[in-house]
Amino acid sequence: MIKIAPSILSADFANLGRDIRAVEAAGADYLHVDVMDGRFVPNISIGLPVVESIRKVTDLPLDVHLMIEEPVRYAEAFCAAGADIVTAHVEADTEENIRRCLEIVRGRGRRAGVVLKPRTPARAVLPFLELCSLVLVMTVEPGFGGQKFMADMMPKLREVRGYIDERNPGCELEVDGGIGPDTCRIAAENGANVLVAGSAVYGAADIPGRIRTLRG
Ligand code: DX5
Ligand code: ZN
Repeated sequence: MIKIAPSILSADFANLGRDIRAVEAAGADYLHVDVMDGRFVPNISIGLPVVESIRKVTDLPLDVHLMIEEPVRYAEAFCAAGADIVTAHVEADTEENIRRCLEIVRGRGRRAGVVLKPRTPARAVLPFLELCSLVLVMTVEPGFGGQKFMADMMPKLREVRGYIDERNPGCELEVDGGIGPDTCRIAAENGANVLVAGSAVYGAADIPGRIRTLRG
């Protein structure tokens, strides 16, 4: 069963509670929260106070995608703010510090994961895989919603799926970027079981219908 994680980056931030309730009522599985620091990616989005507020208005698992330098500095704080899943980019710090970040999240009883940017090879997950409940493969350059899906990431997605099946079969495989009615199928066929979708969900006139379509 494919899970759908709407990204609130495409929601109306002035009506965030309303927009979160809309995807919860529409059967979303996770709520994807994009945290950007203006350094790891060239954009600034939302941070801890917003996650704390979101936690109070939804029971959906919060899937917090940290696009920040040295994510270990904030692992504890995002868990305390109510994150259920915390993912950190492997490119954002040393291997040792990324492992520490994952261990902090796991120590809090939350699910930890790593993220790969498009130019990062599949094998970069290997030092972390046994600590991961989820691996996220980016299908756009992180930083902005509404970009075009990079179909050339599919071989890498399959390679990561192979590593997961071999070494940590319970781990989920998520894709993020450019997922819509035309691309959801190819992502699922290549091994993803969680699809993040921002503009495709929040830009839809019929959100429940769009979530059903994406689930396939
Ligand atoms: C991009 C973010 C995504 C973004 C996806 O850096 O990580 O989660 O919201 O947006 P869409 O689905 O519009 O490509
Ligand atoms: Zn994201």
